[in-house]
Amino acid sequence: MNISVSRSTSAAILSRLDTLAHLSESDDGLTRQYLSVEHREANELVGSWMREAGMRVHQDAIGNIIGRYEGEHEGAPALLIGSHLDTVVMAGKYDGMLGVVTAIQCVQDLHNRGIQMPFAIEVIGFADEEGVRFQSTYLGSRAVAGTFRKELLEARDANGMTMADALRAFGLDPNQINTAAKRSEDVIAYLELHIEQGPVLESKDEPVGVVTAIAGATRRLVTLSGVAGHAGTVPMDHRQDALLAAAECSLAVEKVAAKRTHCVATVGRMEVSPGATNVIPGSVTFSIDIRADEDVKRTEALAELDPWLTKIAESRGCTLNVETVHEANSVTCAPWIVRQIENAISTDKSRVVRLPSGAGHDAAAMADLTDVGMIFVRCAGGISHNPDETITEADAGTGADLLLQVIENFRVEDHSCSIEST
Ligand code: GLV
Ligand code: MN
Ligand code: MN
Repeated sequence: MNISVSRSTSAAILSRLDTLAHLSESDDGLTRQYLSVEHREANELVGSWMREAGMRVHQDAIGNIIGRYEGEHEGAPALLIGSHLDTVVMAGKYDGMLGVVTAIQCVQDLHNRGIQMPFAIEVIGFADEEGVRFQSTYLGSRAVAGTFRKELLEARDANGMTMADALRAFGLDPNQINTAAKRSEDVIAYLELHIEQGPVLESKDEPVGVVTAIAGATRRLVTLSGVAGHAGTVPMDHRQDALLAAAECSLAVEKVAAKRTHCVATVGRMEVSPGATNVIPGSVTFSIDIRADEDVKRTEALAELDPWLTKIAESRGCTLNVETVHEANSVTCAPWIVRQIENAISTDKSRVVRLPSGAGHDAAAMADLTDVGMIFVRCAGGISHNPDETITEADAGTGADLLLQVIENFRVEDHSCSIEST
């Protein structure tokens, strides 16, 4: 690559990520949920960085923060570059934020050099990608893509607050969410830089790679209702223990995924009620997150799982309720953008690491609006969704270099070209 960010740029990226990581709901780790006080603070901080970089800033109706850097002609269609500012519970400080902060640094670099592109650039800090608060992901990017489902406004957080009320408390109007949607004619493409969250780049000793596709995912909430009772008096064969049913269901979830290649499933949350040592669990709600590289694989796994859940619930005298709270099909990154990223990484194509993403990204939702491309940056040990998530300053610099190079050479191409096989 022949454009090179200065060492101070990569140091600035890491320093900003450290600053953002202080905006957390808990003192003992980074947690920043959608529409929280810390979300507002993050938007204000990121908005100030956008302004410094020469962008006009606004917060849209779902709570995304957007900075626009005009091109040679005011009002030209925009290259959108984004990622998310919300986090999982006890998160690392790079997942999502690296992409936003790096994009701002790239625009800052253009601004410092007085360069304007033939297109505008809009940097977006998406409000909710992780779906921690309301269980449904891509809220920010779906609003921009015009695919936000209104019924989600009735989804409730762990305290029983609806999304509509949370939006109002944040100062936003739930009836205006449609105004966050962009028109496809105002957009030329969407780019996202993100940490890999897996071990591939590290194993290949490469700092960056190009994403070919993003896996599809389904999230479900399962509630099993049995009968709460006295832990000392009810004989084992008289019990309708919802937690034991949930435990068996979790093993079934593991089984249906494990027998398929590139299919993974996780029970990551479980709420036991009433939740006392000496009370037989009367009801349990747990989450299922299932993903696969091919949508048909995920659909088949779920079709196999459903009768198992019914059978397990029946055998333990429990009733079963299953709710699908999120569904996203797999998405292919646009071959013409993949090629431009590859060209920026190296003139020697055989050295470029191409890889699919098992994690979800805002790019998957943005693909409903426009063609998307993604850059991955190596992270240590492939560790993510964990406070130990880390990247090196050198890799942050290489990622910024690459993104800047892609922006400066960006040309809208014939969308019908296919990816050459390696
Ligand atoms: C987002 O990080 C997801 O893949 O769940
Ligand atoms: Mn994440
Ligand atoms: Mn992410």
